[in-house]
Amino acid sequence: NLPNEVKVKEVGPRDGLQNEKEHVSTVEKIEWINQLSETGLSYVEITSFVHPKWIPQLGDAVDVAKRINRKEGVTYAALVPNEKGLERALEADIDEVSIFMSASEAHNRKNINKSISETYPVLSPVVQTAKEEGKTVRAYVSTAFGCPYDGNVEVDQVLSVCQRLFEMGIDECSIGDTIGVANPLQVEQVLTSLSQHFSKDQLALHFHNTRGTALANVLTALQLGFTTFDSSLGGLGGCPYAKGASGNLATDDLLYMLEEMGIHTGIDLHKLLKSGEWIQGVVDRPLPSHHMQLVRSG
Ligand code: HMG
Ligand code: MG
Repeated sequence: NLPNEVKVKEVGPRDGLQNEKEHVSTVEKIEWINQLSETGLSYVEITSFVHPKWIPQLGDAVDVAKRINRKEGVTYAALVPNEKGLERALEADIDEVSIFMSASEAHNRKNINKSISETYPVLSPVVQTAKEEGKTVRAYVSTAFGCPYDGNVEVDQVLSVCQRLFEMGIDECSIGDTIGVANPLQVEQVLTSLSQHFSKDQLALHFHNTRGTALANVLTALQLGFTTFDSSLGGLGGCPYAKGASGNLATDDLLYMLEEMGIHTGIDLHKLLKSGEWIQGVVDRPLPSHHMQLVRSG
């Protein structure tokens, strides 16, 4: 009962690079995104229009978005926290706007400087204007499986945040294991609960592999009929406002597992690994995915 096809959304240029210490130039970011566009990926989250004081690594967002080659059939998305961010995203003509907030109070406050209830009136006009401008909108719900400050997060809290976001008119909601604490049983519980309220094709999973459980969590979600997964090439990534949020699920490792199970993604693993090697050279540190380790060991 596994799906035949899965959509993989590459978030490396955003979730990966937002956390890199090594300076990556605008030209290097553009080159990397252009490479990713040639691998068969149909979705790349390329940057973030958050405050550059908070994430200086992505302060060149407008420049990056304006200068990449837009390949037909590829959706180019970016994070947008508020109306100011949306102005910049529209100036850069991004295809899809990704808003974000957390299921837990403490992480929401650390990450975007507001309580959960204060966040809705900030995001609502962003969704409305983005839709009026013909953009699709995705929302992330972070810390859905655990918070670095609050600990456990109740499923009802995740549900209630998702509900509010769908009421605003978002097209898709990505459920985030920001700090990589989720386990397959918990994934089953949370997703079973969410699928009683939302259709599975409106939900995506955003796993981090901090504790090595990401692929097991993917398999659980696949068995429940979910077909959209976020990942980052080489496992680059994290969230600077969540300690321990290193290492997104690696696109290369995900791809291998899916394709070996006969689940199609349309992505070329060989091209992807070449691009992984390239960005590994740029960030100047060994990337954590299994495939990048294999490549390094020749
Ligand atoms: P704030 O300081 O509360 O902002 O930050 P403010 O609304 O009070 O505005 C203060 C000043 O900033 C104003 O300027 C605004 O114009 C300016 P002034 O009038 O004082 O001259 N400003 C901006 N400038 C440029 N772009 C903007 C912008 N917004 C305000 N967008 C804010 C609030 C949300 C902006 C800030 O907290 C922020 O940028 N946070 C982002 C943190 C972040 O990027 N975290 C990582 C991404 S989330 C993540 O990684 C999780 C995810 O991967 C899923 C998962 O793993 O679970 C998505
Ligand atoms: Mg993330």
